[in-house]
Amino acid sequence: MERRTLALMSDPTKIWVDGCFDFFHHGHAGALRQARKLGSQLYVGVHSDEAILKNKGPVVMHLDERVYAVDTCRWTTQVVPNAPYVTSVQVMDEYDCKYVAHGDDITTDADGNDCYAEVKQLHRFLEFKRTPNISTTDLIARMLSSSCAHHIPADSTWLHEPSVVDQFAAYATAANGTDPFAAVYNCTSQGVEVLVRGDHASNSAVLVSGAFDLFHCGDIEYLEKAKVSTPMGTKLVVGIYSDSDVQREKGKNYPIMNIYERALCVLQCKYVDAVILNCKPGFDLADIHFLPGQLNVDSIRLTTFKNLSSDVIIKRVLSNREQYEERQRRKNMKSINEEKIKAHN
Ligand code: CTP
Repeated sequence: MERRTLALMSDPTKIWVDGCFDFFHHGHAGALRQARKLGSQLYVGVHSDEAILKNKGPVVMHLDERVYAVDTCRWTTQVVPNAPYVTSVQVMDEYDCKYVAHGDDITTDADGNDCYAEVKQLHRFLEFKRTPNISTTDLIARMLSSSCAHHIPADSTWLHEPSVVDQFAAYATAANGTDPFAAVYNCTSQGVEVLVRGDHASNSAVLVSGAFDLFHCGDIEYLEKAKVSTPMGTKLVVGIYSDSDVQREKGKNYPIMNIYERALCVLQCKYVDAVILNCKPGFDLADIHFLPGQLNVDSIRLTTFKNLSSDVIIKRVLSNREQYEERQRRKNMKSINEEKIKAHN
């Protein structure tokens, strides 16, 4: 079957992308950035909890949480909640989206049929490269197994590999998915190094720091409130604690996402102007080129997602262990069928 390719990149059109977006991980953010670059605006359909239950298994994050996470991604133009699980040409037309974009994996419905069969037939399907080594299934597996094999040591040179720095630069781009925007720093025993420069000099900045594990809606609401409470033009700099510091504080299995994954999640958020990897409590912003402003972070009170934390999310999985183990089995079975469909395409 013929596939439209990235050659359409210059077409200034509205792009449709849809999915579950359960835990808004960096694979999802990467999908939205790539989809955004295919057109001029990005409409993101998010499936309902019920549709996902029927076609894939139980969600961990509920619709309102998944919608907020997608909505606060820098590359999203508009979120469309309750989008049908099998991509609908009618819904795409309603939002004036000529093309739907999806990763280079196959997604099937409860009957084992390709969710994009119709749009592929109509040549309204664009494909981008799926981000390797991250999925909702992987994150649930880490929770169920209490593994910490994914952790990265704070002094790892791996963060300097060109492909890693390139990925930081990609996630640091502006709303068009291309222009430089945010900055990325790394704290080492020698001082602070710049990994990605970003586009902006700034007269003032405020720092908020934390683990930002699973980058959930409580984290995002906190960053939103921090950003809106600062004077116009103030940069929001987010310090991210090392895996070993989070582990020491929270226990062996934490963090569920390693520092690289957490940094990419924070970086794609539209309220964030810079991230500092391996930041320590008490870090002074004057150590980088910003002039620090004042932000009383203790005054930030969450409202909508005040009861959400990484512990609450992990508890959702562990207290329904059997249900999620069954979800994992079903997802693995579906993958076998999806691989077969892919091989025949
Ligand atoms: N996606 C991606 N890279 C990943 C994970 C997802 O590019 N590592 C893309 C998918 O190809 C899809 C979009 O993100 O275009 C939304 O995916 P989703 O519906 O949430 O489901 P999955 O592909 O099953 O993602 P996950 O395995 O994380 O549940």
